[in-house]
Amino acid sequence: MTAVPPQPTLTDGEITLRPWRDDDVDLAPALEDEQIAHWSGSPRVSTRDDLAAAVRRWHEQYDDDRSVVNFAVELAGVDGPVGTVEVRRCPDGVGDVRWTTYKPFRGRRVAPRAVRMLASYAFTELGLERLHAEVDAENRPSSRVALRAGFRREGVLRGSATLGGERRDMIVYGLRRDDPAPDTVLGWTTLMDSVLPKKRVIAHVVVRDTGGRVLLCTTSYKRDLELPGGAVEPGEDPLTAARRELVEEPVAAGHHHRRRARDPLRGLVHHRRARRPGLPTERPPAPAGARRARPRPPAPRRQAVLNPRPAVSGRSGT
Ligand SMILES: CC(C)(COP(=O)(O)OP(=O)(O)OC[C@H]1O[C@@H](n2cnc3c(N)ncnc32)[C@H](O)[C@@H]1OP(=O)(O)O)[C@@H](O)C(=O)NCCC(=O)NCCS
Repeated sequence: MTAVPPQPTLTDGEITLRPWRDDDVDLAPALEDEQIAHWSGSPRVSTRDDLAAAVRRWHEQYDDDRSVVNFAVELAGVDGPVGTVEVRRCPDGVGDVRWTTYKPFRGRRVAPRAVRMLASYAFTELGLERLHAEVDAENRPSSRVALRAGFRREGVLRGSATLGGERRDMIVYGLRRDDPAPDTVLGWTTLMDSVLPKKRVIAHVVVRDTGGRVLLCTTSYKRDLELPGGAVEPGEDPLTAARRELVEEPVAAGHHHRRRARDPLRGLVHHRRARRPGLPTERPPAPAGARRARPRPPAPRRQAVLNPRPAVSGRSGT
């Protein structure tokens, strides 16, 4: 067996994944809450002794040919861990991924960013070919983490786990090493295909000014410019859908200029991630006979720019 390299510290400047330190066990237990205990099936939140034992185990498992690699997650400007991410090696180049963010730091996209960094580490340093995660069907925040980290929804394992003595459905999310990045057209479309109906109609609209310039949008989720528009809803005709999207999305020039006045960065064509990407919501099926609100497509975030070129070729988006 080749020598195991020391566990690295990985950072993107704001999120850092690093090995656990002994002094973490004085800070982290106070940050655990009942949500963590609930979704991990523990009868209670971890004590200092529980965490100290876990840290010892993680170091041993790392040294044991990296069978499990668990990182403490740090956030710039915060002392001590704000969460954890872990990859557990399974046979055949597969890794099982888990994540947690401590309560005071939730809602800041810590987990999706940390999971993306972990995935990159697992594919390069550990040489894994596929990562997967199983998320309780009712744990919506965790499902959002999987999608935001670029994992596709692959299916439901009905009744495959128990929680509090109850049999639970688990959703499987998967990411392969060769999957296209989610901020590319193909990557985004395949991610959306994993959670939305695959047959959907998209309507785009060409808006030109008197100078022949065409209105294009930057999006927060992919690199390419696109025409304003979006998914046609059930019972809607494409023209109505395109008009509705034009009004609903911040693409109209007036709206755009108002937004620019508040935040000049948001008007820049290349400022693609000015807002959080819209993701589809996974809804439970409606009971038979129930009237449901019209399903809404994911809300892509767009910003408008007038293309100085006189014409563009139309292309369908997601
Ligand atoms: C699931 C979890 C890891 C999400 O981590 P995070 O760093 O908050 O991730 P995000 O910031 O991307 O938030 C994920 C979703 O949770 C929502 N959310 C949940 N709790 C929140 C809170 N206290 N404050 C703000 N947002 C919260 C977010 O709005 C987001 O939903 P959205 O995509 O519709 O906006 C974290 O809530 C957690 O550790 N929960 C308890 C344990 C658990 O479920 N672990 C995973 C087991 S598979």
